Amino acid sequence: MPVSWKEVVLGCIVFGAAAGGALLVEANVPHERSGQILEGSHLPSDVRATFERSCQDCHSNNTYWPIYSSLPVVSKLIHDDVDKGRKTMNFSNWQDYSRGKKVGYLALIQNSLHTRVMPPAKYTALHFNAKLTAEQLDAIEKWTGQEMRRIIHEK
Ligand code: HEC
Repeated sequence: MPVSWKEVVLGCIVFGAAAGGALLVEANVPHERSGQILEGSHLPSDVRATFERSCQDCHSNNTYWPIYSSLPVVSKLIHDDVDKGRKTMNFSNWQDYSRGKKVGYLALIQNSLHTRVMPPAKYTALHFNAKLTAEQLDAIEKWTGQEMRRIIHEK
């Protein structure tokens, strides 16, 4: 049976609103993208993917600025967060950090995961797939330990 205009209009109203909302949340405008994060580390691809999905927006220069980040007020909040995140630890500058600094950051990463403060809840509320699964947590945990040992024993 062909779809009537009434159904089309109704569908647009119902799904249009949902699609509009989803677009606002998901349509991200990339700019300022730069090189690979955590350059110089021995990083398995699955752990890299997790950092890219859940951390790099705030802890690297590879920030995908969402459309709503240009809204007044929201813009300030998001830019402040990214600013603070990058200043605290920037995965784009990893190769420039001293060995001691890297080990310190790796320990902080472990700590931030244990306490579940990262990624921040306000971020995962909008980026559903940034929430870390138990497997991802385990993989990061394992990697941070390995990487610390590797750096400490590095000649
Ligand atoms: C929405 C932005 C955002 C995301 C996403 C994010 N962070 Fe953060 N992160 C911050 C900010 C902002 C700070 C600084 C916190 C402060 O100064 O209060 C921070 C601080 C940290 C610190 C330092 C904590 C300390 O005790 O000083 C670590 C480690 C960290 N983040 C790891 C991560 C990891 C790992 C991920 C991904 C799993 C992640 N962050 C995702 C914004 C973010």
